[in-house]
Amino acid sequence: MSGDLGENAVGFTSKGDDTEAIRVAVTGAAGNIGYALLWRIASGDCFGKEQPVILQLLEIPPGMQRLEGVRMELRDSAFPLVHDIVCTDDANVAFQGAHAIFLVGSRPRTKDMDRSDLVAANGPIFVGQGKAIDEVASKNVKVITVGNPCNTNALIANANSPRIPSRQFTAMTRLDQNRAVGQMAERSGVPASKIHDVFIWGNHANTMYPDPRFATVDGRRATDVFDLDWLKGEFLDTVATRGKAVIVARGASSAASAASAAIDHMRDWWQGSNGRIVSMALPSEGWYGVPEGLVFSFPCRCQNGQIEVVQDLPIDSFAQSKIDENVAMLMEERQAVTGLLN
Ligand code: NAD
Ligand code: LMR
Repeated sequence: MSGDLGENAVGFTSKGDDTEAIRVAVTGAAGNIGYALLWRIASGDCFGKEQPVILQLLEIPPGMQRLEGVRMELRDSAFPLVHDIVCTDDANVAFQGAHAIFLVGSRPRTKDMDRSDLVAANGPIFVGQGKAIDEVASKNVKVITVGNPCNTNALIANANSPRIPSRQFTAMTRLDQNRAVGQMAERSGVPASKIHDVFIWGNHANTMYPDPRFATVDGRRATDVFDLDWLKGEFLDTVATRGKAVIVARGASSAASAASAAIDHMRDWWQGSNGRIVSMALPSEGWYGVPEGLVFSFPCRCQNGQIEVVQDLPIDSFAQSKIDENVAMLMEERQAVTGLLN
């Protein structure tokens, strides 16, 4: 199989029947998130326990030796669903025929930075990768952007990939949703599995709005379970600034929780969200007054491989002010990368 993918491809081919395997590309595969993500994909947590995968892993040249170590460990894990592993530093090889792509590879921030400070360093990566997706990925490819600032990086990749429908370019705000669930679980003593429909509006940045108004906690409305001061104060602030808090505590950017959220995002997109509201950032089609094209996190439901933005939720003045704040920030980010948008 790796022979079909070009000279730079390195991998192994199993003797199993891989005619039904899907091609899953992961960039930055030798990084911290990659290390947690690949084992979840390989074990079937994302695409299902019956779905074989061909892993197509991209790194930059200085990361190729570490990637070889990751490849060895994946091989040593003997996952029945992994039909092939391709390791490459060529995006056109990594994205060849890809059905799902995790755009992770990029620099994380340090504790003195905001995520948007990364746009100059990371934005250009998504020009070349967007073009490569356009050239060689499956027309139906599903793309999740994790590398920060993820909304604007998804915007850049989308702009450079005109062949692929815009709705197939998403950015991850599921980690923020999971953090919101975690905070509610901790405060109420109710397990996370019984907390539903809290979701994120806007940018994966401190401006994000974790909206509790439609959430339920063990069947009760979150707005009845928690006091409003907490929901608009500590809860909102904790979720919005959790990335920095983790960096300060761990000395490194969140990785295992980010990988887990990326699995949740892609799994729900691929297999359906079972009627639950989930957070996904995708290019706006004017929903809720958000300017077209901005990659904005909305309440979504997934079914049959499609994302549908939940329409007509009532927006109160607080929610509107948060939506406006996020639109303003994303417009600024878009302005800063005009040169990368073709
Ligand atoms: P890391 O430094 O551990 O790994 C990044 C990897 O990407 C490295 O191995 C590096 O060699 C590789 N890389 C760099 N440029 C590349 C390119 N052009 N193509 C392919 N690979 C490339 O970082 P990490 O902890 O894995 O984080 C990766 C990104 O994810 C960061 O930008 C981080 O801020 C972001 N992140 C986002 C979220 C979110 O919720 N959206 C959460 C956590 C982290
Ligand atoms: C996170 O939310 O943990 C990531 O985006 C990393 C960061 O820089 O905050």
